[in-house]
Order: sequence, then structure tokens, then C-alpha cells
Amino acid sequence: VIRSIILGTGSYLPAKCLTNEELAEKVDTSDEWIVQRTGIQQRHIAADGEYTSDLAVHAAKAALESSGVDAQDIDLIILATATPDNTFPASAVTVQNALGIHHGFAFDVQAVCSGFVFALTTADAYLRSGMAKRALVIGAETFSRILDWEDRTTCVLFGDGAGAVVLEAHEGEGTVADRGILTSHLRSDGVHKEKLFVDGGPSSTQTTGHLRMEGREVFKHAVGMITDVIEDAYSATGLASEDLDWFIPHQANKRIIDASAKKLKIDPAKVVTTVQLHGNTSAASIPLALDTAARDGRVKQGDVVLLEAMGGGFTWGSAILRW
Ligand code: ACO
Repeated sequence: VIRSIILGTGSYLPAKCLTNEELAEKVDTSDEWIVQRTGIQQRHIAADGEYTSDLAVHAAKAALESSGVDAQDIDLIILATATPDNTFPASAVTVQNALGIHHGFAFDVQAVCSGFVFALTTADAYLRSGMAKRALVIGAETFSRILDWEDRTTCVLFGDGAGAVVLEAHEGEGTVADRGILTSHLRSDGVHKEKLFVDGGPSSTQTTGHLRMEGREVFKHAVGMITDVIEDAYSATGLASEDLDWFIPHQANKRIIDASAKKLKIDPAKVVTTVQLHGNTSAASIPLALDTAARDGRVKQGDVVLLEAMGGGFTWGSAILRW
């Protein structure tokens, strides 16, 4: 049995940090409202001329360094993003070129906030099939570019950033005692499109558009979808909440994270939360949180880690891996 093992992680945040107080000078909101409803205290914003691919390259280089892998040994790059530099080519190809890689293949995956779980699952499938040996899986976003900065119901929630992992294919014994991605589960349902979408695009309006969201509706569906797809991961592995070392959810909102952990009876001490510092960075949020917890020594080799995300589409997914 071939298993995909995470060799290392990296992340990047743009230098500019925007606090709730600074936001309250631009729109009618307050630090108190934002913290109480979401847990978010600040978010990072990309500089003029700093693109999603730039953020991705920084995170990718850090992940390569922490893995001890040379860029030339990467034969697959999957970049999860809903905010590519251009309509085409895929920003993954720009990242590939910036890393000096001219072999193998690179493409983007678009599943909004679930993008990293979709990209990781896709890379795992390529590695297990033998089509690639070593993959860079990146989540990178510049949501600041698609926000309506006059809409206080959405602009306070999101931030820019990037995170990356290096995945390598290894022969394993085929039991859950092995390291690597043990299971992953992806779902989508387009019936929910209108609840969270961008009102522009090349084929519809020939504009980039802005993010639109029915926040309450998203909240209402989030916990149920998240817990359903985690139950799928538990069923597939025979693992349960008490077997986890770490729960690393998509960082949309502290209330959604806390409610999901509570419903699943996951010990709050096992939940990695970075939303307070990063805001919702969409596809970048899980690899940013993973990198934070790997670098501060929380996530160690052999640990069982549960990932989960839900986002526009709706799309949702989960993965369990042994670090
Ligand atoms: N500052 C101050 N007041 C605000 C703000 C703001 N930034 N935004 C909205 N309000 C006001 C509203 O106008 C409303 O006022 P009213 O009662 O006078 O009409 C009041 O606050 C309550 O608004 P609600 O939308 O009902 O507030 P709610 O408690 O639902 O919180 C929130 C809003 C935080 C968006 C919540 O619904 C939520 O977390 N939803 C999930 C959305 C999410 O996380 N999306 C991320 C993308 S999807 C994903 O990643 C899973």
C-alpha cells in the first residue's frame, strides 16, 4: 500500500496587519462585535503588486526547506485558490516557474474554503496511483481583492495568506498504524450556490466581482456538514474523537469551530485555532494552522490529525492523517 506522508510545512503572511480597530475607522463596526461573533482580532492584507502566487511561493519555499526536499525533486504542484493571479494560466504554473521547476505538472484546484482538503486529497490520489512521487500542496489566497470594503457583514471576516505542505509517496503496511493520509472524504452540493458566491467572473460579467454571503445561512449549515463528513472519516478508519491528537479545522469563525468540536466531543485542548490572528484565509487557513502547530512543537511525528473544511458551493471535506 502506498501512503502519502507530509514531510514538512511552510506558510507566509503579508507584512501588513489590519486590526479590528483600524477596520472600525473604515466601516461601521467595532472590535467588540467582531471578536464576539467570530473570534477574529486581526488579519493580514497583501501589498499592492503582491499576488496570490507570490504568497504561495514564499509558503512553498518554507515547506521545501522544512522538508529538506530540493525543488527539483517535486513533480506535482497543486495550488488551492479562489483568488488566482489571472483567469488563466493556473497560478500553480506561475509558482512552478518561480521555483525553477520545468518538469512534472502543476494546476489549481477551486473549492473555495475547502480548497486545501480538496487539493490534499487530489495530490494523495496522484501519489497513490504512482503518477507522481513528491507533491507541493499549497493553499494561497488574496481575498482582500474580492471583498466589498463597504459591506461590513463580509469585509471584517477575511484575510490574505498562504500555507504549503510537501507530500511524499511511501510504501506502507496498510494498517492505520502507519504514517500518512489515512482517509479523506469530499462533498459538494451546488444547490447552496447563492448563499456564498462572488458576483462576477469571466463568463458571466467579465469583471472580477465581489464576495456575497448570507452569513446566517452559512452558519446554519456549517456545523452539520462538517460533522457529517468527519463521521465518514471515523467510519472509514475506525477512529473516534478520543483517538485524535489534534483537530485542525478550516478557520472561518471561532463559533463554528467551537460548535463543531463540541458536537463531536473533541477536547478543546486538541483544537488548533489561528482565526484570531489570520481571519478567514479560505484555502490557506488549514495549512497556515498546520504550519503554526508543527513549528511550535504541538504536532509531532506519530500524532493523529483531523482536518476539516467547509465553504462556498457548498463544498466540504475531511481528512485524517498520522503525522
Ligand atoms: N459590525 C457590526 N454590526 C454588524 C456587522 C459588523 N461587521 N455585520 C453585521 N452587523 C449587524 C447586522 O447588520 C445586524 O444588525 P440588525 O440586527 O440591526 O439587522 C446584526 O449585526 C446581526 O447580524 P447577523 O448577520 O444576524 O449576525 P450573526 O450573529 O449571524 O453574525 C456572522 C454574522 C459573523 C457573519 C455569522 O453569521 C457567521 O459567522 N456566519 C458564518 C459565515 C462564515 O464564517 N463564512 C465564512 C465563509 S464560509 C466558511 O468558511 C465556512
